[in-house]
Amino acid sequence: MALIQNETGTTWIDPIEGAIGACVSGVDLRDPLDHEALALLKTALAEHQVLFFRNQDLSAEQQLAFGSQFGELSADPVAGLKGSLKRISYIEDTEERAPAEFPWHTDLSWLSEPPAFGILNARVIPKSGGDTIWVDLYSVYDALSPEVQQQVRQVRLRHRPQPHYFETVRAHHGDEITNRLIAEHPPVEHPLVRSHPVSGRPALFLCPLYAEFIVGLSAKESASLLASLDEHLDNPEFQVRWQWQEHDLVIWDEASTNHRALGDHYPAHRRMQRCSVAGSRPYFQKDS
Ligand code: SIN
Repeated sequence: MALIQNETGTTWIDPIEGAIGACVSGVDLRDPLDHEALALLKTALAEHQVLFFRNQDLSAEQQLAFGSQFGELSADPVAGLKGSLKRISYIEDTEERAPAEFPWHTDLSWLSEPPAFGILNARVIPKSGGDTIWVDLYSVYDALSPEVQQQVRQVRLRHRPQPHYFETVRAHHGDEITNRLIAEHPPVEHPLVRSHPVSGRPALFLCPLYAEFIVGLSAKESASLLASLDEHLDNPEFQVRWQWQEHDLVIWDEASTNHRALGDHYPAHRRMQRCSVAGSRPYFQKDS
């Protein structure tokens, strides 16, 4: 357990046993972090990949202010095209709007520069269900045999928005925005093994939600290799599962994790306030 003590109190970082992630206590995220506390949280995020905070009742503005201490905030691609400065969004599940139940993913991996960090603040939480699970992509890479590691280090994975994403955007924002979105966001190829921009460690940069195929392999070879790699994401030893309480805040490293939210709370209401911090173009450094 790491801690710092300063005039605002004691901040504790308590790693979750046997998994990735750490719980942080003794800090009020509505206030700006002092230099020491911010440095502690950045180090903890690099080390534990997902940080959980209880009892953080943040307005949209307070969440954006918290996130901006970790880097420039990202705009949603649609909001960006509409010239909006909106950086906050909501994931809202209701009886009329069932949970998306997306498979494992890193957010917006189909951007040439996907986000570095995701941040969620729980606004309305069902009595049961609706947990989110994160999986450690360093461990997934480490679990591969040396032969498979050698193979995946040499290839790129093509990412694209989900096929129905553009149709949803068309229904809500019309043809002009959708056509510009398609033109400005062709599929991107990222290295399948990604060197982490802070730790330098290799992570298997999978993303079943957005992955299209492994470049240079036949469709059959690509599907078969991806299926065998994706299986590792379901290994509970590499995961942390979070049971939300109202006003929990979670910040996670998008470069070294995938996540997915469960939809077993349907038809109960669940509302999450989200923003993300901009990232950089994924790369693979051969000696990592
Ligand atoms: C997501 O799948 O990106 C959202 C995670 C959540 O709602 O917990």
